[in-house]
Amino acid sequence: MTKKPQVEITGWEARHYDRFLNLISLDRYGGLIGRAINDLQLRPEEIVMDLGAGTGRMVRLMLQQMNKQGRIYDLEVGDEMKTHLFELQKSDARLIIIHQRIEEPFLLPVQATLVFISFVLHGLHQQHRLQVIQNVHQNLQVGGRFCILDYNHFSLENAPWYVRLGIRHIECETTEDFITRDWPSLLPERGFSNIQLRRYARGYIRLLCCQKL
Ligand SMILES: C[S@@+](CC[C@H](N)C(=O)[O-])C[C@H]1O[C@@H](n2cnc3c(N)ncnc32)[C@H](O)[C@@H]1O
Repeated sequence: MTKKPQVEITGWEARHYDRFLNLISLDRYGGLIGRAINDLQLRPEEIVMDLGAGTGRMVRLMLQQMNKQGRIYDLEVGDEMKTHLFELQKSDARLIIIHQRIEEPFLLPVQATLVFISFVLHGLHQQHRLQVIQNVHQNLQVGGRFCILDYNHFSLENAPWYVRLGIRHIECETTEDFITRDWPSLLPERGFSNIQLRRYARGYIRLLCCQKL
């Protein structure tokens, strides 16, 4: 039997995911994602595709910046995570939840103006990451934006001990590979341009946004 990727969070961890992140970040995670969502500079009528939406914590923040025409398509496979999303959907019909593996081919009913993926890519193997990028390209309007919030590209050897410990022993086993990848160089080869970067948490986390050509 093949092992489920560690980034597919289930069970106890999924039920208490937001509290768990607040705890291990010493309550700094909320501020970080608030800044990152502001940095997305959403337009009110944005059609967002959110890949691996989790509990919907980011979704809530995005919806606050969108008007009635705005939509968020949340692609998610985790049962417990979807339970959180269905709760949120009860009070906000702009949210559409789709059970879909993001590395498998799919076509949304509309093309998105913004694709967002937060803390998912680092947990996939590189060939699956590249399949996700291909799916993003297919489901995004020309000129639309693709934004990745995840670990930055950095040297683990030169990082402080607690960063090395976190990446090597707490995070998914694919994370160390993810941080060696130079995404600003890889994305232009896959039909994206106009790369923009914002850094958080002493530069270990970044928001990378680019545009479909
Ligand atoms: C680390 S959590 C991040 C959640 C959210 N994006 C955030 O930043 O708070 C990863 C999420 O991606 C989902 N996920 C992982 N692999 C997936 C896949 N192949 N297809 C769809 N969802 C996936 C997991 O179920 C989980 O909810």
